[in-house]
Amino acid sequence: MKAVQILGDKGNAHIALSDLPRPVPQGQEVLIRVHAAGVTADEITWPEVYKTPSRIPGHDISGVIAELGPDYHGPLAIGDEVFAMLHADRGQGQAEYATALDEEVALKPKTISHREAAALPIPILTAFEALSRYAKLEPGSRILVTGASGAVGTMLVQLAKRMFNAEVVALASPERHEYLRQLGAAEVVDYNTPDWESRLTVDAVFDTVGGLTLSRSWKTIKGKGSLVTVADPPPAWAFGGGEPKELEANSGVSYKYFVLSPDSGAMAKVAGMIDNGEVVCLSAVVFPVTEAAAAWSAATQRGRKGKIVIEFVS
Ligand SMILES: NC(=O)c1ccc[n+]([C@@H]2O[C@H](COP(=O)([O-])OP(=O)(O)OC[C@H]3O[C@@H](n4cnc5c(N)ncnc54)[C@H](OP(=O)(O)O)[C@@H]3O)[C@@H](O)[C@H]2O)c1
Repeated sequence: MKAVQILGDKGNAHIALSDLPRPVPQGQEVLIRVHAAGVTADEITWPEVYKTPSRIPGHDISGVIAELGPDYHGPLAIGDEVFAMLHADRGQGQAEYATALDEEVALKPKTISHREAAALPIPILTAFEALSRYAKLEPGSRILVTGASGAVGTMLVQLAKRMFNAEVVALASPERHEYLRQLGAAEVVDYNTPDWESRLTVDAVFDTVGGLTLSRSWKTIKGKGSLVTVADPPPAWAFGGGEPKELEANSGVSYKYFVLSPDSGAMAKVAGMIDNGEVVCLSAVVFPVTEAAAAWSAATQRGRKGKIVIEFVS
């Protein structure tokens, strides 16, 4: 099968297109004929891909169930159209075939294409987990989403509105303001505005940018609000590096960095919202598999108008 590979060492890696053996589903795995796979550019910095013998990257896929493992007794059947988020340490989705576990796979939204569905799993799961597990939102809470026009940000804006009727303030470049209003943002703020943080007051921050943007966003939180960040690289406090220095001025704020987990139930819920027209899927910028290296390069560019997707079946 055709497969994308990350070859070389971390720091000196390059993208290649190779012919590799098709995987065989073991135990409770299913085999998916991959039609399209999303690209997460930061994956080239993750240690996991360098530990897989295949060196195939990719965690977001959409395709069709081709085979069931010998011990698979779940609800999926051969021919089902599915989308999946493969565990960080399993991955290997950017290939014509990939294996997946039940908890990683949900039926694809019926109203969208495989290329659109391949852009969705990580953004859906990250936004859903941030909102349902880590933030302390009440119906009508006012929240700030940073990087609001990005893949995760776009899902956060929409799911916060649909799940909590939140009043969403979206921090983004001005070119994306109208789009974000259409998605449900109550207020849009240009991230180039000097002192934007002094003009805002919110109950919770959802940060997808990190660095200085994360640091500035602390100032917008009132009282005992909450802050959730997923941005790479994570802040020093994320892995036991002490407390955030911003806590000195905002001592009541609860704060969290997390790494998403597969959750087929959450994917199925949001797939339903997409099919009902309550949630709009992300725009996908599609590259054929023969241009995989260009796809990876495009995924690192700022100001993209969509998530980069590699197509295996056109
Ligand atoms: N921890 C986890 O489980 C997890 C899960 C998913 C993603 N992530 C991480 O979350 C981050 C966002 O992911 P994504 O897929 O949504 O990325 P994305 O689609 O590239 O979106 C990034 C957004 O951040 C904005 N941005 C970037 N640099 C900025 C800056 N200096 N100031 C203001 N805005 C800035 C971009 O704005 P422009 O359009 O103007 O460039 C864009 O809207 C990444 O770091 C990713 O690795 C973590």
